[in-house]
Amino acid sequence: MNNSKFIRIAEAIEQKIETGEFPPGSKLPTHRLLADELGTTPATVAKAYKLLNNRGCLESFVGRGTFVRANSELDKAIQAPDEETHFNFSILQPCLERNVPALKNAYRQSAELLTPSEIGYVESSGHKAHRAAGVKWAKQYGLEGGNNDNMLLTNGAQHALSLLVDTLTKPGDTILVERLTYPGILAIVNMSDRHVIGVDLDEYGLCPQALEVAIEAHQAAMVIAIPSHQNPTGISMPESRKKEIARVINDKKVWLVEDDIYCFLDDEPVPPIANFSPDYTFHISALSKAISPAMRCGYLKAPDSQITALNANIRTNIWLASPINFIAATLLIESGDAFRLADQQRKVAHKRQKMVREIFTSIDFTASGYHIWLPLPAHWQADRFAMEAKNRGVIVTSGSYFCANNGSTPHVRLSLMSIGNEARLRDGLNQLQRLLSSDINSFFPN
Ligand SMILES: Cc1ncc(COP(=O)(O)O)c(C=O)c1O
Repeated sequence: MNNSKFIRIAEAIEQKIETGEFPPGSKLPTHRLLADELGTTPATVAKAYKLLNNRGCLESFVGRGTFVRANSELDKAIQAPDEETHFNFSILQPCLERNVPALKNAYRQSAELLTPSEIGYVESSGHKAHRAAGVKWAKQYGLEGGNNDNMLLTNGAQHALSLLVDTLTKPGDTILVERLTYPGILAIVNMSDRHVIGVDLDEYGLCPQALEVAIEAHQAAMVIAIPSHQNPTGISMPESRKKEIARVINDKKVWLVEDDIYCFLDDEPVPPIANFSPDYTFHISALSKAISPAMRCGYLKAPDSQITALNANIRTNIWLASPINFIAATLLIESGDAFRLADQQRKVAHKRQKMVREIFTSIDFTASGYHIWLPLPAHWQADRFAMEAKNRGVIVTSGSYFCANNGSTPHVRLSLMSIGNEARLRDGLNQLQRLLSSDINSFFPN
């Protein structure tokens, strides 16, 4: 191996870190990709990355890739991107400005309702009335069979996901997910020492045949799927596909976690998989995407057989999800405000999808709910595109963050809701459109 070459590569990367071209937390290309570009071998690139790892500039994670270390000395010199200087398309949350008045009102009313019993320790995992509100919320979007005993309260959907992985599987188990999936799921699975395998998707979502084969081949302990407005692909399963998935789950008697956090974005409710597989499916919904992620209010409908174990895990780890937030959540649901806000957000999302279609006229992309899954022109690689967009003040999420089986995909995900102001959103989209049609794709000197 030519020693000077890997040092030159390391120096070029270091320079880009120093100038902020590779900002803290950004992902570097895979060994193979960079090697192809530089006309060298993956081993040479690996050596350059290792050198920079040792110097504390980079950090590598098995299965996720190599990143610019976020807590390096360089952070002091580099400003975190903010609303003023960046168009941030990376956060999947509702247009928050619209929800502030109703939320303020609910918390004001909640304050009036605080009694000693409301602010003390609660015997079971949450108040009955709060669980009943969860039943009502999920039922509005098609979930059947929820009741005050099988509806558990969690600190958002993320907590529900980690609770389920922790309670129902053990280290070394295999968990199947969609081939492209929400990085929060991959983070839980990786951190908890479970194996993750991505299963193929088609235009209707998770493929039942591929799922069946993968369950058998890997003796999977759990399947996690996002059936509606899937993050990141935007695919929504029609009812027929949900029934097929339920059939596989029932036949194979394997746990299914149905992360249905975007269910309120359907124009007409489509029954969740849990309706067709109530003994094996755990249904997750939450107020994070419709109202506010800061509430940390999640609802988990579980099969009767697992309620005791899940309640015990909740009590052991967090005692219970904060009842004070669930007072506000319950007020919002009981007054109907929660549904009104969710509906408003759905309409805003529709309007914004239309705006993107007017701007990205030459690209065939999926727009669904809050985000779009944008295929990149052939000359762009996703991590590179995201990095270059950031240099131009636009933050998008590279497709590689969503790949369950490592590798990459020539896509980026754009949230349409995290920029509140419509004119600013349009400016950001136009900026991206210019980058998409440019042909800059070489970052490293030869
Ligand atoms: C599919 C999916 N599940 C769960 C979450 C996390 O939701 P919460 O904020 O309720 O924990 C997200 C957030 O982006 C998500 O996209």
